[in-house]
Amino acid sequence: MITVIGSANMDIIAQADKFPLQGETVRGKDFQTSPGGKGANQAVACARLGQNVQLIGTIGTDSFGEMIVANLRNQQVDTSYIAQAEGPSGVAIVLLTEGDNRIISIPGANHALTPQRIGELKSVIGASQLVMMQLELPIDTVWSVLKLCRELEVPVMMDPAPSSSFQLEYMSYVHYLTPNETECAQLFGISIEETVSNYPNQLLVTLGKDGVCYHDREQIIYVPGVPVQVVDTTGAGDTFNGALASQLVQGNDLHSAVQFANVAASLSVGKFGAQGGMPTAQEVENVTDKID
Ligand code: RIB
Repeated sequence: MITVIGSANMDIIAQADKFPLQGETVRGKDFQTSPGGKGANQAVACARLGQNVQLIGTIGTDSFGEMIVANLRNQQVDTSYIAQAEGPSGVAIVLLTEGDNRIISIPGANHALTPQRIGELKSVIGASQLVMMQLELPIDTVWSVLKLCRELEVPVMMDPAPSSSFQLEYMSYVHYLTPNETECAQLFGISIEETVSNYPNQLLVTLGKDGVCYHDREQIIYVPGVPVQVVDTTGAGDTFNGALASQLVQGNDLHSAVQFANVAASLSVGKFGAQGGMPTAQEVENVTDKID
Protein backbone atom coordinates (compact mmCIF):
# COMPACT_ATOMS: atom_id res chain seq x y z
CA MET A 1 0.00 0.00 0.00
CA ILE A 2 1.21 3.48 -0.91
CA THR A 3 0.19 6.20 1.56
CA VAL A 4 -0.03 9.76 0.30
CA ILE A 5 -0.09 12.37 3.05
CA GLY A 6 -1.09 15.67 1.57
CA SER A 7 -3.46 18.18 0.12
CA ALA A 8 -6.75 17.79 -1.68
CA ASN A 9 -8.06 20.87 -3.47
CA MET A 10 -10.68 22.01 -5.89
CA ASP A 11 -8.91 23.67 -8.81
CA ILE A 12 -10.59 26.83 -10.15
CA ILE A 13 -9.24 27.09 -13.66
CA ALA A 14 -9.27 30.14 -15.93
CA GLN A 15 -8.00 29.70 -19.48
CA ALA A 16 -6.71 32.63 -21.54
CA ASP A 17 -4.38 33.27 -24.48
CA LYS A 18 -1.88 34.96 -22.20
CA PHE A 19 -1.24 35.67 -18.53
CA PRO A 20 -2.22 39.17 -17.36
CA LEU A 21 0.66 41.53 -16.62
CA GLN A 22 0.67 43.45 -13.35
CA GLY A 23 -2.49 45.58 -13.24
CA GLU A 24 -3.75 44.20 -16.56
CA THR A 25 -7.08 42.49 -17.24
CA VAL A 26 -7.21 39.95 -20.04
CA ARG A 27 -10.27 38.30 -21.56
CA GLY A 28 -10.52 34.63 -20.59
CA LYS A 29 -11.53 31.80 -22.94
CA ASP A 30 -12.95 29.26 -20.51
CA PHE A 31 -13.59 28.52 -16.85
CA GLN A 32 -13.81 25.17 -15.13
CA THR A 33 -13.55 23.51 -11.74
CA SER A 34 -11.65 20.25 -11.50
CA PRO A 35 -10.36 18.17 -8.55
CA GLY A 36 -6.71 18.77 -7.72
CA GLY A 37 -4.26 19.28 -4.88
CA LYS A 38 -0.83 17.76 -5.04
CA GLY A 39 -1.64 14.99 -2.55
CA ALA A 40 -4.90 13.98 -4.20
CA ASN A 41 -3.31 14.18 -7.65
CA GLN A 42 -0.45 11.90 -6.64
CA ALA A 43 -2.89 9.42 -5.12
CA VAL A 44 -5.00 9.39 -8.31
CA ALA A 45 -1.86 8.92 -10.42
CA CYS A 46 -0.96 5.83 -8.35
CA ALA A 47 -4.51 4.46 -8.52
CA ARG A 48 -4.76 4.96 -12.28
CA LEU A 49 -1.60 2.87 -12.58
CA GLY A 50 -3.26 0.07 -10.64
CA GLN A 51 -1.71 0.62 -7.22
CA ASN A 52 -3.38 0.30 -3.82
CA VAL A 53 -3.21 3.81 -2.46
CA GLN A 54 -4.72 5.75 0.42
CA LEU A 55 -4.76 9.48 1.07
CA ILE A 56 -4.35 10.96 4.53
CA GLY A 57 -5.68 14.50 4.38
CA THR A 58 -8.44 16.90 5.36
CA ILE A 59 -11.37 18.38 3.51
CA GLY A 60 -13.65 21.23 4.59
CA THR A 61 -17.35 21.31 5.37
CA ASP A 62 -18.23 23.00 2.05
CA SER A 63 -19.61 21.34 -1.08
CA PHE A 64 -16.09 21.18 -2.59
CA GLY A 65 -15.15 18.79 0.22
CA GLU A 66 -17.87 16.32 -0.79
CA MET A 67 -16.88 16.61 -4.45
CA ILE A 68 -13.21 16.01 -3.65
CA VAL A 69 -13.95 12.81 -1.71
CA ALA A 70 -16.46 11.53 -4.29
CA ASN A 71 -13.88 12.00 -7.03
CA LEU A 72 -11.18 10.16 -5.04
CA ARG A 73 -13.53 7.23 -4.44
CA ASN A 74 -14.43 7.10 -8.13
CA GLN A 75 -10.73 6.96 -8.90
CA GLN A 76 -10.27 3.99 -6.51
CA VAL A 77 -8.29 5.92 -3.90
CA ASP A 78 -8.92 4.70 -0.33
CA THR A 79 -10.43 7.68 1.52
CA SER A 80 -10.76 6.01 4.96
CA TYR A 81 -8.31 8.46 6.54
CA ILE A 82 -9.60 11.69 5.11
CA ALA A 83 -10.97 13.83 7.94
CA GLN A 84 -13.29 16.81 7.79
CA ALA A 85 -12.50 20.17 9.39
CA GLU A 86 -14.89 23.08 9.90
CA GLY A 87 -14.49 25.69 7.14
CA PRO A 88 -13.57 25.72 3.45
CA SER A 89 -11.67 23.01 1.58
CA GLY A 90 -8.37 23.80 -0.10
CA VAL A 91 -8.68 25.55 -3.44
CA ALA A 92 -6.17 26.43 -6.13
CA ILE A 93 -6.59 29.26 -8.60
CA VAL A 94 -5.04 27.96 -11.82
CA LEU A 95 -4.29 30.37 -14.66
CA LEU A 96 -3.85 28.38 -17.83
CA THR A 97 -2.41 29.45 -21.15
CA GLU A 98 -1.34 27.19 -23.97
CA GLY A 99 1.36 24.96 -22.52
CA ASP A 100 1.87 26.84 -19.26
CA ASN A 101 0.23 27.50 -15.91
CA ARG A 102 0.48 29.68 -12.81
CA ILE A 103 -1.09 28.52 -9.56
CA ILE A 104 -2.06 30.12 -6.28
CA SER A 105 -3.09 27.47 -3.77
CA ILE A 106 -5.07 28.41 -0.66
CA PRO A 107 -4.68 25.69 1.99
CA GLY A 108 -8.10 25.86 3.71
CA ALA A 109 -8.77 22.53 5.44
CA ASN A 110 -5.44 21.09 4.29
CA HIS A 111 -3.85 23.02 7.13
CA ALA A 112 -6.07 21.25 9.66
CA LEU A 113 -3.96 18.08 9.31
CA THR A 114 -2.07 18.13 12.61
CA PRO A 115 0.93 16.25 14.04
CA GLN A 116 -1.52 14.76 16.55
CA ARG A 117 -3.55 13.21 13.71
CA ILE A 118 -0.35 11.83 12.19
CA GLY A 119 0.45 10.24 15.57
CA GLU A 120 -3.03 8.68 15.71
CA LEU A 121 -2.40 7.07 12.32
CA LYS A 122 0.97 5.56 13.30
CA SER A 123 -0.06 1.97 12.56
CA VAL A 124 -1.56 2.94 9.17
CA ILE A 125 1.61 4.78 8.20
CA GLY A 126 3.80 1.99 9.56
CA ALA A 127 2.05 -0.57 7.33
CA SER A 128 2.88 1.44 4.18
CA GLN A 129 5.46 0.43 1.59
CA LEU A 130 6.12 4.07 0.78
CA VAL A 131 4.89 7.45 2.01
CA MET A 132 4.50 10.26 -0.51
CA MET A 133 4.27 13.84 0.58
CA GLN A 134 4.35 17.39 -0.73
CA LEU A 135 4.53 20.71 1.10
CA GLU A 136 0.93 21.96 1.01
CA LEU A 137 0.67 20.99 4.71
CA PRO A 138 1.74 22.81 7.90
CA ILE A 139 5.49 22.51 8.49
CA ASP A 140 5.11 20.89 11.92
CA THR A 141 2.93 18.22 10.29
CA VAL A 142 5.57 17.63 7.61
CA TRP A 143 8.16 17.17 10.36
CA SER A 144 5.92 14.78 12.30
CA VAL A 145 5.56 12.60 9.20
CA LEU A 146 9.29 12.62 8.49
CA LYS A 147 10.22 11.71 12.06
CA LEU A 148 7.56 9.00 12.29
CA CYS A 149 8.61 7.46 8.98
CA ARG A 150 12.24 7.38 10.13
CA GLU A 151 11.19 5.67 13.37
CA LEU A 152 9.04 3.15 11.45
CA GLU A 153 11.62 2.72 8.65
CA VAL A 154 9.10 3.64 5.96
CA PRO A 155 10.73 5.31 2.92
CA VAL A 156 9.52 8.80 1.98
CA MET A 157 9.23 10.43 -1.45
CA MET A 158 8.88 14.19 -1.16
CA ASP A 159 7.77 16.65 -3.82
CA PRO A 160 9.12 19.95 -2.43
CA ALA A 161 6.26 22.12 -3.66
CA PRO A 162 5.50 24.84 -2.78
CA SER A 163 9.27 25.22 -2.44
CA SER A 164 8.98 28.08 0.07
CA SER A 165 8.15 25.48 2.76
CA PHE A 166 11.24 23.37 2.08
CA GLN A 167 13.98 22.98 4.69
CA LEU A 168 17.39 21.56 3.78
CA GLU A 169 17.27 19.27 6.85
CA TYR A 170 14.51 17.28 5.11
CA MET A 171 17.20 15.76 2.88
CA SER A 172 18.41 13.39 5.57
CA TYR A 173 14.85 12.11 6.09
CA VAL A 174 13.70 11.56 2.52
CA HIS A 175 14.68 8.75 0.18
CA TYR A 176 13.65 10.69 -2.93
CA LEU A 177 13.17 14.40 -3.58
CA THR A 178 11.50 15.37 -6.86
CA PRO A 179 11.69 19.13 -7.55
CA ASN A 180 11.15 20.63 -10.95
CA GLU A 181 14.02 22.67 -12.34
CA THR A 182 12.67 25.99 -11.00
CA GLU A 183 12.23 24.55 -7.53
CA CYS A 184 15.67 22.93 -7.67
CA ALA A 185 17.28 26.29 -8.39
CA GLN A 186 15.28 27.95 -5.60
CA LEU A 187 16.11 25.25 -3.06
CA PHE A 188 19.80 24.71 -3.70
CA GLY A 189 20.96 27.83 -5.55
CA ILE A 190 23.57 26.01 -7.67
CA SER A 191 23.38 24.35 -11.07
CA ILE A 192 21.17 21.30 -11.54
CA GLU A 193 24.21 19.20 -12.49
CA GLU A 194 26.03 20.12 -9.29
CA THR A 195 22.94 19.58 -7.16
CA VAL A 196 22.09 16.12 -8.48
CA SER A 197 25.76 15.15 -8.07
CA ASN A 198 25.50 16.05 -4.38
CA TYR A 199 22.46 13.76 -3.91
CA PRO A 200 22.98 10.68 -6.10
CA ASN A 201 19.96 8.41 -6.57
CA GLN A 202 18.02 10.71 -4.23
CA LEU A 203 17.39 13.92 -6.15
CA LEU A 204 15.35 13.53 -9.33
CA VAL A 205 14.84 16.83 -11.15
CA THR A 206 11.98 17.06 -13.64
CA LEU A 207 12.78 19.29 -16.62
CA GLY A 208 9.37 19.65 -18.26
CA LYS A 209 9.51 18.73 -21.95
CA ASP A 210 13.23 17.95 -21.56
CA GLY A 211 12.62 14.95 -19.29
CA VAL A 212 14.38 14.15 -16.01
CA CYS A 213 17.89 14.47 -14.63
CA TYR A 214 19.56 12.62 -11.74
CA HIS A 215 22.95 11.21 -10.73
CA ASP A 216 23.34 7.43 -10.43
CA ARG A 217 26.55 7.52 -8.31
CA GLU A 218 28.67 7.21 -11.43
CA GLN A 219 27.40 9.86 -13.79
CA ILE A 220 24.62 12.34 -14.49
CA ILE A 221 21.74 10.65 -16.28
CA TYR A 222 19.38 12.57 -18.57
CA VAL A 223 16.17 10.74 -19.41
CA PRO A 224 14.85 12.63 -22.45
CA GLY A 225 11.28 13.95 -22.65
CA VAL A 226 8.65 12.36 -24.87
CA PRO A 227 7.18 14.79 -27.43
CA VAL A 228 3.42 15.30 -27.00
CA GLN A 229 0.83 17.88 -27.95
CA VAL A 230 0.49 19.94 -24.77
CA VAL A 231 -3.03 20.75 -23.55
CA ASP A 232 -2.46 21.35 -19.83
CA THR A 233 0.74 20.90 -17.81
CA THR A 234 -1.05 21.08 -14.43
CA GLY A 235 -0.37 17.90 -12.47
CA ALA A 236 2.51 16.64 -14.64
CA GLY A 237 4.83 16.65 -11.63
CA ASP A 238 2.23 14.82 -9.55
CA THR A 239 1.89 12.20 -12.28
CA PHE A 240 5.67 11.79 -12.30
CA ASN A 241 5.68 11.22 -8.54
CA GLY A 242 2.77 8.79 -8.60
CA ALA A 243 4.25 6.78 -11.45
CA LEU A 244 7.69 6.70 -9.87
CA ALA A 245 6.19 5.45 -6.60
CA SER A 246 4.09 2.85 -8.37
CA GLN A 247 7.17 1.43 -10.04
CA LEU A 248 9.38 1.47 -6.95
CA VAL A 249 6.86 -0.36 -4.74
CA GLN A 250 6.73 -3.09 -7.39
CA GLY A 251 10.48 -3.59 -6.91
CA ASN A 252 11.66 -1.96 -10.13
CA ASP A 253 15.09 -0.33 -10.15
CA LEU A 254 15.36 3.44 -9.99
CA HIS A 255 16.41 3.94 -13.61
CA SER A 256 13.52 2.00 -15.12
CA ALA A 257 11.14 3.63 -12.62
CA VAL A 258 12.32 7.08 -13.73
CA GLN A 259 11.91 6.13 -17.41
CA PHE A 260 8.37 4.91 -16.78
CA ALA A 261 7.46 7.99 -14.72
CA ASN A 262 8.91 10.28 -17.38
CA VAL A 263 6.62 8.75 -20.01
CA ALA A 264 3.62 8.90 -17.66
CA ALA A 265 4.25 12.59 -16.93
CA SER A 266 4.62 13.35 -20.64
CA LEU A 267 1.30 11.66 -21.41
CA SER A 268 -0.44 13.55 -18.61
CA VAL A 269 -0.06 16.93 -20.31
CA GLY A 270 -2.08 15.79 -23.32
CA LYS A 271 -5.46 16.25 -21.58
CA PHE A 272 -7.17 18.95 -19.57
CA GLY A 273 -7.05 19.11 -15.74
CA ALA A 274 -4.51 17.99 -13.17
CA GLN A 275 -5.91 14.45 -13.14
CA GLY A 276 -7.53 14.28 -16.59
CA GLY A 277 -4.46 13.07 -18.49
CA MET A 278 -3.00 10.69 -15.93
CA PRO A 279 -2.34 7.46 -17.84
CA THR A 280 -2.98 3.81 -17.09
CA ALA A 281 -0.02 1.40 -17.00
CA GLN A 282 -1.06 0.05 -20.40
CA GLU A 283 -1.01 3.54 -21.91
CA VAL A 284 2.50 4.13 -20.57
CA GLU A 285 3.68 0.75 -21.83
CA ASN A 286 2.26 1.41 -25.30
CA VAL A 287 4.47 4.48 -25.56
CA THR A 288 7.47 2.81 -23.92
CA ASP A 289 7.30 -0.05 -26.46
CA LYS A 290 7.57 2.48 -29.30
CA ILE A 291 10.60 4.16 -27.68
CA ASP A 292 12.51 0.84 -27.12
O1 RIB B 1 0.43 20.18 -8.84
C1 RIB B 1 -0.77 20.72 -9.33
C2 RIB B 1 -1.67 21.08 -8.18
O2 RIB B 1 -1.10 22.12 -7.44
C3 RIB B 1 -3.02 21.58 -8.61
O3 RIB B 1 -3.96 20.56 -8.81
C4 RIB B 1 -3.39 22.56 -7.51
O4 RIB B 1 -4.44 22.12 -6.70
C5 RIB B 1 -2.11 22.77 -6.70
O5 RIB B 1 -2.15 22.15 -5.48
